[in-house]
Amino acid sequence: MSIFLDQAFVNRDHESTRKFYNTWAPSYDAEITAAGYVTPTRCAEALASHTADLSAPILDFGCGSGLSGQAFKDVGFTQIDGVDLAPAMIEQARAKDIYRSLSVIEADATPKGQYAVISAVGVIGLGAAPSTTIDVLMYALPKGGKLVFSFNDHALADPTQTGRLNEWIDCSAARVLFAEYGAHLLIQNMNSTVYVIEKY
Ligand SMILES: C[S@@+](CC[C@H](N)C(=O)[O-])C[C@H]1O[C@@H](n2cnc3c(N)ncnc32)[C@H](O)[C@@H]1O
Repeated sequence: MSIFLDQAFVNRDHESTRKFYNTWAPSYDAEITAAGYVTPTRCAEALASHTADLSAPILDFGCGSGLSGQAFKDVGFTQIDGVDLAPAMIEQARAKDIYRSLSVIEADATPKGQYAVISAVGVIGLGAAPSTTIDVLMYALPKGGKLVFSFNDHALADPTQTGRLNEWIDCSAARVLFAEYGAHLLIQNMNSTVYVIEKY
């Protein structure tokens, strides 16, 4: 039964997002894995295919319980740092041998200029981080830095989300290295587009 997943995709402010994921944390892995959550693997494979040096540190923004970090580790990335606004999700991640460092942050409080690669897997969209998070993450990257992220079907149907991405592309502040629509949650028949974009 999808107890939390059924409530995941509704509009929330940062504080209710934190509360929601704190409550979901103990059962998040079991529920979302049973639902066939494949976007972390797709993001990790896409990023690996556009990264020459797998030892380059990645900031896994919205790392949650560590499923995204595990996917990056599985494809060979060796230095993965995680940040998330929900302490109970970070505690789940801490129990696994994935991350070099883990920190609880205020919403969108991304370290600037410290990472050439940032990920936001299943993070931006209805029920989680807002469209403006793309700007925050892109400003945190240096020139030539890469952002790998996903938009699920809800985000893809929302012009404020896709519009925010398009602004970066249309004004040549970034270019798309990879964009592929595919499975997100197999059991729910929900898809996502995985993007790798490079900052100019
Ligand atoms: C659906 S989970 C994805 C977790 C992990 N990346 C994965 O793929 O399993 C979304 C995560 O984003 C975090 N999050 C949502 N909005 C955020 C924000 N504005 N700043 C930091 N973390 C945020 C939530 O606390 C939650 O852990």
